[in-house]
Amino acid sequence: KKIAVVIVAAGSGSRFGDPIPKQYHLLGGKPLLRHCIESFAKLVPLEMIRVIYNPDHRDRYDDAMNGLSLPEPIAGGLTRQQSVLNGLRSLEDENPDYVLIHDAARPGISDDVILRVVNALSEHSGAIPTLPVMDTIKQAGHSGFIEKTIPRAQLHRAQTPQGFHFATILKAHKQFEGLEFTDDAALLEQLGLDVICVEGDVANDKVTRPDDMDRAHDRLYTGSK
Ligand code: C5P
Repeated sequence: KKIAVVIVAAGSGSRFGDPIPKQYHLLGGKPLLRHCIESFAKLVPLEMIRVIYNPDHRDRYDDAMNGLSLPEPIAGGLTRQQSVLNGLRSLEDENPDYVLIHDAARPGISDDVILRVVNALSEHSGAIPTLPVMDTIKQAGHSGFIEKTIPRAQLHRAQTPQGFHFATILKAHKQFEGLEFTDDAALLEQLGLDVICVEGDVANDKVTRPDDMDRAHDRLYTGSK
């Protein structure tokens, strides 16, 4: 099967509270984005990997890519969803069978997780790595008072890479252009298509706040969970 990868790295990282966007922060001397690319490059040819970036970060991007010859990066959009669509459109000529869509803010992606996603695509329209929810989840109103407890047995934390049949996810993204879903599986859910959960990995949790960097470092370099 022909597999392509879209790595979305066009966010401003505003929650990270630092002028350097998180995807360019160093983890063990390498930018988060570079960790992601190296993980996928073990399984997919470089010419099938597309990075979606913010052209304002061109210098940081070039530094991160030092020595790697990837196709030209694609400019992202104002939302994650728009950034993904730009990436998918850049692959239309290649017309891969499958596409894996990954957040650059998840540097701890392993071969095992990638392969679980890819393998599930022989039987399903989409496959996403997930983890069970361990905390009790409360719904509260704006005033902060609890309204209810959401039973967690059927809840899953969604990670990336999310894998899809390319033609299916491209069509869905074109149909829902302009909306703001926070992941890609949500688009197939809207269409009633089958997306299966495969086992995720805590090392693959998203780096969102500065202290997540320390946790990511420990997980990558000491194997601690
Ligand atoms: O904001 P959030 O943490 O959901 O972003 C997830 C991923 O999407 C990040 O890797 C970020 O760089 C990317 N993104 C993007 N374009 C945007 C917003 C987010 O590529 N406009």
